Amino acid sequence: MTAQRVLVTAGTGTVGQHVVRELRDDVEVRVGTRRPQSVREAGDSDSDSDEHVVEFDFARPETWGAALDGVDATFLVRPPGVEQRQVTAFVDAASRVRVDHVVYLSTLGADKNVLIPHHRIESHIQQSAVRSTFLRASFFTQNLHEVHGQDVVEHDEIFVPAGSGETSFVDARDVAAVAAVVLTDDRHDKQAYDLTGPEALRYDEVAAVFTDVLDRQITYADPSIPAFVRRMLSRDLPLSYVLLMVGIYSTARFGFAGRVTDDVERLLGRPPRTVRDYVEDYRDRFEPARTPAAAHSPER
Ligand SMILES: NC(=O)c1ccc[n+]([C@@H]2O[C@H](COP(=O)([O-])OP(=O)(O)OC[C@H]3O[C@@H](n4cnc5c(N)ncnc54)[C@H](OP(=O)(O)O)[C@@H]3O)[C@@H](O)[C@H]2O)c1
Repeated sequence: MTAQRVLVTAGTGTVGQHVVRELRDDVEVRVGTRRPQSVREAGDSDSDSDEHVVEFDFARPETWGAALDGVDATFLVRPPGVEQRQVTAFVDAASRVRVDHVVYLSTLGADKNVLIPHHRIESHIQQSAVRSTFLRASFFTQNLHEVHGQDVVEHDEIFVPAGSGETSFVDARDVAAVAAVVLTDDRHDKQAYDLTGPEALRYDEVAAVFTDVLDRQITYADPSIPAFVRRMLSRDLPLSYVLLMVGIYSTARFGFAGRVTDDVERLLGRPPRTVRDYVEDYRDRFEPARTPAAAHSPER
């Protein structure tokens, strides 16, 4: 069955906002958000389609029924901080109301790493009655402005503790484009795709791309873990989030984040975006005149 009506959870998020854009010409899209009023008021000048903003909160099951009503498929995202059991309870609810297909945004390596919530959520989905597709994404290039843009803007540096490890950065817009393909085509049931960019880069190579595109010197600071933790905590980021980042960058440091696949190209029929494409497209996020608040604007 080809989906006619799709609920995009975290529909305002890094990937979800682009899934909404990708889908809106082909299907009826429901944008799931905890703050429907402000999202409606903000509007989207690109949209003249039959698109509905609906209240949806993993922590408030009373919002699920209306959000799922009549839905054939859902793009499922576990936002940071949302508990695993809330996501699995939502999968059960979707299955009960006969949602046909769940496309779950997971992470590279989730099949092998039994310790992470993505692994357990994938297992739960597999055991449910819904058809499923897993998108196991590498590190989003968009982290470079959403999380680390302030370092580029204020200090002309990339400040992550990844040593000389490589990362196969994937552009969130490409993850979204793949999501749109698999949501609107029946042939991806029980499939899992490993989504990476076209190459793996060290952070000094990333800094060189920034230097070239922005036409000013950007360096890779390669901080120690304590120095990284100190700077992130000075920005009032929660300790749990900072430690999660330390884990992610340690994975890169030890050489486990550089695997490159051709899944994006096979599914989209074109090569994935490069880090250079990303810096060119998001150049204004890294201009020194921008305030940190502007660098984190919701339209990403
Ligand atoms: N970052 C990476 O490099 C990377 C790589 C691979 C996989 N992933 C995975 O990708 C997922 C995150 O995707 P993303 O970056 O696109 O998400 P995101 O931008 O972090 O999404 C956050 C959105 O989720 C919504 N949200 C927050 N709490 C919610 C709740 N209780 N109920 C419903 N919605 C809620 C918020 O929207 P509203 O305020 O509008 O409700 C917010 O905009 C994570 O599971 C992560 O592990 C990330």
